[in-house]
Parts: sequence; structure tokens; C-alpha cells
Amino acid sequence: MDQSNKKVLITGGAGFIGSHVVRLFVTKHPDYAIYNLDALTYAGNLENIKDLESFGNYNFIKADINEADSIKKLFLEHEFDAVIHLAAESHVDRSITNPNDFIETNVLGTANLLNAFREVHKDAYEGKLFYHVSTDEVYGSLGKTGLFTETTSYDPQSPYASSKAASDHIVRAYGNTYGLPFVISNCSNNYGANQFPEKLIPLFINNIKQSKPLPVYGDGNYTRDWLYVEDHAIAIDQIFHQGTVGETYNIGGFNEWTNLNLIKLLCQLMDEKLDRPKGNSEKLITYVKDRAGHDRRYAIDANKINKELGWKPSVTFEEGLEKTLDWYLANDEWLKNVTTGAYQDYYDKMYS
Ligand code: NAD
Ligand code: TYD
Repeated sequence: MDQSNKKVLITGGAGFIGSHVVRLFVTKHPDYAIYNLDALTYAGNLENIKDLESFGNYNFIKADINEADSIKKLFLEHEFDAVIHLAAESHVDRSITNPNDFIETNVLGTANLLNAFREVHKDAYEGKLFYHVSTDEVYGSLGKTGLFTETTSYDPQSPYASSKAASDHIVRAYGNTYGLPFVISNCSNNYGANQFPEKLIPLFINNIKQSKPLPVYGDGNYTRDWLYVEDHAIAIDQIFHQGTVGETYNIGGFNEWTNLNLIKLLCQLMDEKLDRPKGNSEKLITYVKDRAGHDRRYAIDANKINKELGWKPSVTFEEGLEKTLDWYLANDEWLKNVTTGAYQDYYDKMYS
């Protein structure tokens, strides 16, 4: 859609993927006024978007999508033309211990945004768009073969996945019932700079650096399809501008790795970067109790976005991983800041 001179609200822009989306939109689209709304939970970090503070088209709003009244007020004040909604509770392990946080933010928080969007536009939506960012985890778990397509039935298995699935359904229902113009994308596992070190790749980079055990869940033969975060941001930009209203797009890198193979590659690359003897970091691999209800395999069929919008990943996994390792090694201070205090309590509870 053409959004020139329009106000675009991006939620969750202080988090991992959101920070890359905000950066791309602020720098690539100087004619948009970008509003980054974030509650700055443990996963939100203003350091992630510090470089954008001097841009004239960038605004930060600290707000909680669970507070319906404040959200409504903000929409009435700013009359956002478009929303790109990323704010969420995003970590499966936390959803197992605190499912209600996920139901509240991911389900009700999304409904609060949709209600505010309706209220401000009074169901007259010419030139407006609500873009909901979702995950491939809504489709459940695959067997040894097959890929998730846009028509795969929803079968979410974790509280996180089911809260995202519920939010996808609510967005579609608002489209069907009120004519609210939406697009949804469901993406595979992302990796890259700014990812909070509770997720596999940054957690393991941090542990390797500190020569701490690498906690592999179960037999380690779980499969994920990895995409470099900046390629996800590019896909979001393309869908936002060229996607068809009411459609869903799956985003993925055709890049499946078992956890064990990925972890071994990480160990090898980290040994090289840290000048440690070959095989040093692999010795840190420690098998731990499996995650409850652990999905065996995710893999995305990204043919639709490729054929319709011409999108494909711009970097190979090797290139993306190299950039990621270099970023974490160069940003020791960032890592230290996010791994003190509350993170340490989480880590002790999770892995003790
Ligand atoms: P993240 O946890 O790194 O960031 C989430 C951001 O949302 C944080 O900045 C946090 O402060 C903010 N937030 C949380 N609750 C909020 C609330 N109540 N009000 C306002 N802001 C709030 O998450 P991420 O990995 O960047 O994921 C972003 C989105 O992309 C999520 O919707 C997630 O479901 C989806 N997604 C993630 C992945 C992945 O691999 N990380 C893959 C596919 C889709
Ligand atoms: P994660 O990064 O949490 O993403 P998701 O569960 O959303 O796919 O985990 C990726 C894979 O790595 C998943 O199969 C769980 C596994 N894993 C471990 O083996 N050990 C860990 O400490 C973590 C965080 C994840």
C-alpha cells in the first residue's frame, strides 16, 4: 500500500525483530512518520534502536498494549494510518511457566490494538492497513517430511503458539466482520543481532563465550528453519507495500537444521573466532531434560512470497551466522547489560 506522508505505528520495536523493522522503515521511508510503541518488558531494550533517536521521522512511545484505554487514547491522538504489530511475549519456555502472560499480551493486547484501530477509523479504511506479524509455530509440528504452507491447518502446541494462533484468528475475524484491512505473515525462527539470550543461538553464543554448559533439550534432534532477521524485516517491508489485503504470507529461508548440527557449527565457528583449540566448545554440550510438548520440526514453504512478491533471503546461513557471531562478540556491553539482574534469576530457575 502507498503510505507516503502517513503515520505508521510499529509495536514491539525495542525487541529483537521489531528493532530491525523499525530501523528499515525509518531509514528507507523518510516520508513516513514512524511511531515505535513498546512497553519495554525484559525483552525490550532502547539500546537496540539508539541510533534512530536523531532521525526526524522517528518517535518512541512507551506504552503497554494490555492497557486498552491508553491504547485507545494514543490512537485517537495520532490517528495512525497503519499498524505493524510485533509486540508479544515470544519465548516458548516462558509460556510453559507463565501461560497467562502470553494470553494477555498476545491475545488481548492484539484485540486492544484492533479495537483502537476500528475506533479511530470508524470502519472506513481507505488506504489503511493492520499488519499482524506471526509465527510458523501456529501450524504445530511436522513429521520428517512436508512443509508449512499458507493453507496448512492451525495446530498450535505450546501456550505461546496457541496465543499467537488465537491472535491470527482474531485479526482475520475483524477483517471478515468489520472489513478491517489486514495482512498476516508467519515466519520461521529468526536469528541475528539484538536477540535476547534466552533463545537458542544467542544463549549458546553467550555460554560458549563464558565456557558454560550448553543445555541441549532432549536428544537434540529437533529441527528448525532459520532466517536472518534482516531478511525478515525486508519481507515485512515488501508485504506491507505489495502484499494483498486479507492474505497470509509464510516467510522462511528453506534452511532446516537439527539443533545438534546447528550447535556443533556454532561451536566450531566460535572456537575459530575465539582462537580456541578445535573441538573445545563442543565439550560444553550437555543434554538436559526436554522441553514439555517440544515441537519436533518446523519448516516453511516460502514459495508464495517468492513468486508473488519476488522475496528471497539475501544472505546465506553461513553469512548470516558470521555477522551474528561478530555482532555478539563486538557487543559485550549489550550482552552484559541484558544478562544481569532479572535474567540471572530466569537462568537459574530454567537451568538449575
Ligand atoms: P522479543 O521478545 O524480542 O520482543 C518483543 C517486544 O515486544 C519487546 O520489545 C517487548 O518489550 C515488547 N512487548 C512485550 N509485551 C508488550 C506489551 N504488553 N506492550 C507493548 N510492548 C510489549 O520478540 P521477537 O522475537 O522480536 O518477536 C517479535 C514478533 O515476531 C512476535 O510477535 C513474535 O511472535 C514474532 N515472531 C518471532 C520469531 C522469532 O524467531 N523470534 C519468529 C516468527 C515470528
Ligand atoms: P528457541 O530459540 O527457544 O526457539 P523455538 O522454541 O521458538 O523454536 O529454541 C530453538 C530450539 O532449540 C528448540 O528446539 C528448543 C531448543 N533449545 C535447546 O535445546 N536448549 C535451549 O537452552 C534453548 C533455549 C532451546
